[in-house]
Amino acid sequence: MTETEDSFLHLTDIPDRTPLVSVTGADDMHAALAGLQARWGMVAPVDLEPGVPGWLVLGHREICDVMRNEGLFSRDPRNWRWNYERLLPAGSSLRSMLSPGRRAAYYEDGPEHRRLRAPLDDAFGSLDEPRTAAMVREICEGLIGQFGPRGRADLISEYAIAVSFLSVAGMFGFREKDGLALLRCVGEIFGHGGDPETGLAEMDRIVLDHVRERRARPTEDLTTVLAAHPAFEEDEEVVHSLVVAICAANEMLVSWIAATLRLIMTDPRYTGRVSGPRRGLDDALDETLWREPPIANLPARFALTDCELGGRVVREGDALVMGVAAANADPRVHTEDEWFETGNRSHVSFGVGPHACPAPRAGRLIVKIAVESLVQRLDLRLAGPDVTWAPSPWSRYPAAMPVVFTPTTGAAAHGRRRVPREPASSIGGA
Ligand code: HEM
Repeated sequence: MTETEDSFLHLTDIPDRTPLVSVTGADDMHAALAGLQARWGMVAPVDLEPGVPGWLVLGHREICDVMRNEGLFSRDPRNWRWNYERLLPAGSSLRSMLSPGRRAAYYEDGPEHRRLRAPLDDAFGSLDEPRTAAMVREICEGLIGQFGPRGRADLISEYAIAVSFLSVAGMFGFREKDGLALLRCVGEIFGHGGDPETGLAEMDRIVLDHVRERRARPTEDLTTVLAAHPAFEEDEEVVHSLVVAICAANEMLVSWIAATLRLIMTDPRYTGRVSGPRRGLDDALDETLWREPPIANLPARFALTDCELGGRVVREGDALVMGVAAANADPRVHTEDEWFETGNRSHVSFGVGPHACPAPRAGRLIVKIAVESLVQRLDLRLAGPDVTWAPSPWSRYPAAMPVVFTPTTGAAAHGRRRVPREPASSIGGA
């Protein structure tokens, strides 16, 4: 079939759609993305899950066009032609991820999105960063105190997951017991053990109790700001917004921490340089956002009408996944000049347009302290040849990262915080 002929084919009629998970799971993800682009151009036919078709948008300009144009590309899953109530298999993580009818900014367009988004922007705008930084540092110290004397650890299950979740739960003011229950729910929602729909229902229940408690007894946390926000019309909206924020944050933070640690331990430009307040850590955080973005493929937008994108005909109701990793590597946003590259902030790792992440500062604060605390205390070395990855259509979520280091002495006093015991594969992966 020629390029021109297959440009007009309907998504479901293209037989050789690439499974998204084979891209994120490839040994060399960037080579796999380049292969897709060479075959299809900037918009490639993929399967989100087996037999569930969608387009993967690979170009930077094309992604910005889609994410900034909500009049043409909706966030609301009710605009997906795929009747997933009937067609998606039970247990599919797409069911809970793209639940129609949930009342949060994430699922809305236009004025309704702006109304539900305002409380999030106000809450993160009011975040007490020094206090949050102190809390995250204490969490990191506690965890390092637990495994430090051992001289070896798995930095995913014993550190990245726990730091991310405890920090986010702390910002929203959850007790540790509820935070750990929420962590189990997130694992279920993203299809890593248990039933996604049960996990979502349980998460809604825990969060609703918490919202009611904060309304009755306000305190200094983000839930208190959200629970009192005049833009919300009912508790369901507060609960659904909080659930989205917790799910979105956890996955991203774990991936970003893991990818930065890996870069620091394996890349000769960083090994031995990133300690203390040196400039190298910020460079490593930025390089990771560009090269190994926490979410490689971002779900999803739904076409509101037949249109053309990147030379391909997209039909009303088609799903489009944003290829963040591909867009970040698009030569059209890079230059050969290292000086210009240093100040280049055009990556799309925090999204663009109305749905761009409301918490990039909070995210960076947590990840930076998590990495800094480790490299200041431990002389980390990977224990094996590399990290193992948990397969997911959306990200190169790390399954394990075993490391060795010189055992710490006198650190056990910090080790009072409990670490979640779930295996890494049971958490995240969306
Ligand atoms: C404290 C940690 C974080 C919280 C609470 C958080 C929360 C959220 C929320 C609530 C949204 C949905 C906004 C909307 O639809 O209007 C969102 C979107 C997003 N977040 Fe974050 N986030 C966090 C960290 C991160 C990190 C570390 C990254 C990646 C580096 C990230 C990347 C994104 C992206 C790409 C979107 C856009 C989704 C889309 O347009 O489809 N987030 N985040």
